[in-house]
Amino acid sequence: MPQLVQSLGELRRALSTLREKKPGSIGLIPTMGALHQGHLQLVGAAADCDIRVLSIFANPLQFADLGECDDYRNYPRQLDQDLALLEGSVDLVFAPSVEEMYPHGVPDIWVRSGRMGEILEGASRPGHFDGVVTVVAKLFNLVQPDYAFFGEKDAQQLAIIRRMVEDLNFPVEIVAVPIVRSAEGLAQSSRNARLSAKGKQQALALSRAVKALSADPGAIDRVSEQLSAAPGVSLDYLKVVGEDLSEDSEPALVLCAAWVEGVRLLDAAPLE
Ligand code: PAJ
Repeated sequence: MPQLVQSLGELRRALSTLREKKPGSIGLIPTMGALHQGHLQLVGAAADCDIRVLSIFANPLQFADLGECDDYRNYPRQLDQDLALLEGSVDLVFAPSVEEMYPHGVPDIWVRSGRMGEILEGASRPGHFDGVVTVVAKLFNLVQPDYAFFGEKDAQQLAIIRRMVEDLNFPVEIVAVPIVRSAEGLAQSSRNARLSAKGKQQALALSRAVKALSADPGAIDRVSEQLSAAPGVSLDYLKVVGEDLSEDSEPALVLCAAWVEGVRLLDAAPLE
């Protein structure tokens, strides 16, 4: 089992012991737990770091009503199972309580994600990305990683974190990790467990659309029409945007969100 630390004091002590034993680079993999193959891909990408720290914290600030919602209350918490999955692949797991991370309750001082956090996913989830960048900034300050690993599945989150690192000069390099998919192409997500076999088939329309656009972004109208008409899929958005998430910038990314069987699914890809 990797070493588990749950308080800020324990984290500081464990990091200083590890730094003495293994001077070199620190890699941080931020997660909310309930680990699956997608998360483990980030762990694999961090293999070259001398010290690998994975954080598990379901962050109430990034949920609706600052965590006063069923989505937060029902978020899967399975620390023992997560630790067993990480055997041999990370040095430290930091899994703090909410009180440890937010001792004064909802913090007074936040990081703001601005325009990039208000569009796309942010339009359906007001405040979500402010909660994300606030907790990620805290994790960067606590762990002081040289590298931090994020999945391309949450492409908007990745773009916003990259911008935060530039705008606030965090001394960390952000590493983007490609999406892990099922053999058929469905992006791995803990939410897929809520889909029936038929829903999983219907959800493949998202990855097909994203793949088609990443090869030919000019086909946006045709592919949007196809995805809107796909059985069982209720489309929220399908967009080709630049690194700054603007539709007016040099195209760089395809982003997609849709509901299948009432489950909100995301997919994304960098342009080929
Ligand atoms: P969480 O949803 O647990 O995801 C943690 C990381 O795993 C994210 O960077 C996400 O993009 C990546 N990930 C999830 N599924 C993936 C897949 N199929 N392929 C590749 N990467 C995948 O994202 C969060 O947590 C939180 O917002 C967090 C950044 C931890 C801040 O609270």
